[in-house]
Amino acid sequence: MKVRVAIIGGSGLYKLLEKAEHVILDTPFGKTPRIDIGYFGGVRVAFLARHAMPGSMKVAHEVPPHRINFRANIYGLKKLGAEAIIATSACGSLRRELEPGDFVIIDQFIDMTKSRTYTFYDGTTTPKELLGVDKEDLVVHIDVTEPYCPTLRRILIEACKKVGVKYHERGCYVCTEGPRFETPAEIRFFSAIGADVVGMTNVPEVILARELNIHYATIAVVTNYAAGLQRKVTQEEVIEIFNRSMKKLVKVLEEAVRNIPGKFTCECDKAVH
Ligand code: HPA
Repeated sequence: MKVRVAIIGGSGLYKLLEKAEHVILDTPFGKTPRIDIGYFGGVRVAFLARHAMPGSMKVAHEVPPHRINFRANIYGLKKLGAEAIIATSACGSLRRELEPGDFVIIDQFIDMTKSRTYTFYDGTTTPKELLGVDKEDLVVHIDVTEPYCPTLRRILIEACKKVGVKYHERGCYVCTEGPRFETPAEIRFFSAIGADVVGMTNVPEVILARELNIHYATIAVVTNYAAGLQRKVTQEEVIEIFNRSMKKLVKVLEEAVRNIPGKFTCECDKAVH
């Protein structure tokens, strides 16, 4: 049985479903971590923790951002039937008004990563082979004018309103390579070029979802002010503030998945056609 809706958990979110089946999928790009399938907010969903170890039944924070096999994760969810993915992500804030504990429904990204695999279409696979669509090109350039699904973003915004959490309707996410945090000089630069929040995982996840015609949006949780805007940045603080926001985040996600339409009117599912 297909699972239309998937949730990807970032740092701090490793388990979401109380009762779940567990699967590990083999993909042409490698194994996925454990994927949990069960009911959440009354909707059948698949949950994947992006920092969990591929091929392992154990789910923990074990894979650093630059080593995540994003292609296996996204392809695995597609194979399960995912049409919509909501991702969660911890992030640092570059703007005073985006405070720790706030949620940001990001709408743009800037890619500052260095060593990742960014595409399914690396000159060896066609969309026909990968997606079954009528396109046999070996070179595929997708449009990312609107990288995040407008329908899912609207649903997340409405869910934040309904649950009553502090949120920001948009934000530009700069993705760094990590695993180190940034220098204050880098943060000043990112701020000057238009970034609002910083994290290490949204790229290439958002791109790969789009390359497989999956509706994808991210709800980012601000866990700290970025380097130079507070005394220092620590992993402990990121996890602690994320954990404090967890109950609210779970409520927002529950409300959101309930509102995912049977049929989308946006064009994310035609990114490659
Ligand atoms: N930088 C990068 N990634 C992060 C941060 C940060 O300050 N906070 C949470 N994830």
